[in-house]
Order: sequence, then C-alpha cells, then structure tokens
Amino acid sequence: MIRTEKIKEVKECVKAWKKEGKTIGLVPTMGYLHEGHASLIKKAREENDIVIVSDFVNPIQFGPKEDLATYPRDFEADCALCESIGADLIFHPEPEEMYAPDFCTHVGVATLSEHLCGARRPVHFNGVCTVVTKLFMISQADRAYFGQKDAQQLAIVRRMVRDLNYNIEIIGCPIVREEDGLAKSSRNTYLNPMERKAAVVLHQALTEAEAKIRAGETDAAEVRRIISNIIEDEPLARIDYVEVVDWNELQPIEKIDGPVLVAIAVFIGKVRLIDNFIVE
Ligand code: PAJ
Repeated sequence: MIRTEKIKEVKECVKAWKKEGKTIGLVPTMGYLHEGHASLIKKAREENDIVIVSDFVNPIQFGPKEDLATYPRDFEADCALCESIGADLIFHPEPEEMYAPDFCTHVGVATLSEHLCGARRPVHFNGVCTVVTKLFMISQADRAYFGQKDAQQLAIVRRMVRDLNYNIEIIGCPIVREEDGLAKSSRNTYLNPMERKAAVVLHQALTEAEAKIRAGETDAAEVRRIISNIIEDEPLARIDYVEVVDWNELQPIEKIDGPVLVAIAVFIGKVRLIDNFIVE
C-alpha cells in the first residue's frame, strides 16, 4: 500500500492507473478508522480495481467552537486497517498541502444544507463539499463511498455531483453499529463508561419511531414526540435536534407520505452524537 502526503504523488499514481484502464474507488475519511469506515473500504475493494482512502481531518469543516484540535487521530492504526482490507493508497495530507495560504474557493449546496446539522454548523457542509471536490479531482475516482451515518452529507454530496455534473458515482453504505445499537463513530471514544451506556438511547428512540412509521404513523410531530420522550428520560442526554424531513430536499414535513429521513443529534455529556433512519 502506498502512503503519501503529497497531492502530486497521488496524481502520478492515478495517471498510471488510468493509463492501464483501471477503475478507482475513493473512500474519503477523517481517520481514526473503525468498522464503519472499514465497511466502505471493503465495498470499494469489491467494486474497483484500485482503492484510495483519504485520511484528512479537514479544518474548514469545523466551526471555531468545535473539536478540531482534539479530534482523535491514529495514523499508524489507520494504515494497518487499510492495508488489511487491501487498499492501494492512503492519502494523508497536512492542511498546508490542501489549502494554500490564499485559498479562497468554496463549493456549497444550498437548500439541502438549511436544516439538521447544517442549521447548527454554519460552515460545515461548505467545508465538506469543498474538500470532497478537491479529493474527487485529485483521485479522478470513478466511484466514491459515503456512509448513511451522515445522511445529510450523503444527500448533499449526491446533489452536488448531480448539479455540477461531476464524473463520479456516489455509493451510499448502511450504518454500522455496535452490538447494543450505538452507531459507530470516532467520537464514541470521548464517552466515559456511564455516558457510553446512556448513548444507546439514540438507537432505542429511533427504533421505536421507525416501528411506528412502518406500522402506519404519518404524523411527523407524533414521531418527533416519541423520540424526544425516550431521550428526555435519559438524564445524561440533551437533545440538539429531532427532525423529520423529506429524503429529497431535506425540508421539514408535517405529514409522512413519501421517502423520509428521521435524524437526531443528541449531546451525551459534552459529546454530540448523530443517528438516523430512512424510510424509502
Ligand atoms: P468521517 O467522519 O471520518 O467519515 C468518513 C465516512 O465514513 C463518511 O462517509 C461516514 O458517513 C462514514 N461512516 C462513519 N461512521 C459510519 C458508520 N457507523 N457506518 C457507516 N458509515 C460510517 O464524514 C467525514 O469523515 C468527512 O466529513 C469527510 C466526508 C471525509 C470530508 O472531510
């Protein structure tokens, strides 16, 4: 497996691979890889001749009060995981390699960024779209793999690719969970043992809500109420948002009568966790 911090080196490898007619799958990550990331890398391995993993904590998608400085990192462990799955290249640039001091170009997707995490993290999705665009250009990938764990991100990247005619196919992958249902996340490592136990309430609340929708509940307010009640019963949990939006435009709805995304963000202690489900 090739490890590189340099854009130029990735581009040289890509040029040679393309010349041989090989297909390229890209898995963008911020590192500290777990089984959620691994599922994306494995799928990319199955579907492409070449697999590139990017491992970059992208500073421009963090707000000033967010956890950029403390975001967990372990590049050696990331390399070992990528190598064990059979990735061909891991790209691990420094921020200076990705952003020149006079960098001033950004990509953003409007409507789909208005609610959910976009409403609470104003610079976040422009930072994501910008870095993802750069990674697409650098890797010249045929396919890129994103988790449904970050459902709004997946929808936004898909829309960006459609609206701006990027030559890449976006593959969405299911949420990988711990045995008790907690969605795997690099941020789970911030939880102390009591908080870790309490964190299962996100999945419990969503499971209950999903069952109600599948049984015919169409009132979005009632779905939000079911979720909020369960979460509010957990003393260590504090709701950031509980939202029911349509799974095309990500706009809040009152009546569920088409594909729907139910998404929540909850603080467990100081740690903000997200989870969701989609009913197509
Ligand atoms: P990161 O949080 O490292 O996640 C990288 C990818 O792994 C995302 O597509 C995310 O949805 C997916 N992922 C994370 N946890 C998962 C889980 N439990 N099950 C399935 N997939 C999971 O998302 C980012 O990084 C960044 O915003 C990035 C796209 C790399 C741009 O900087």
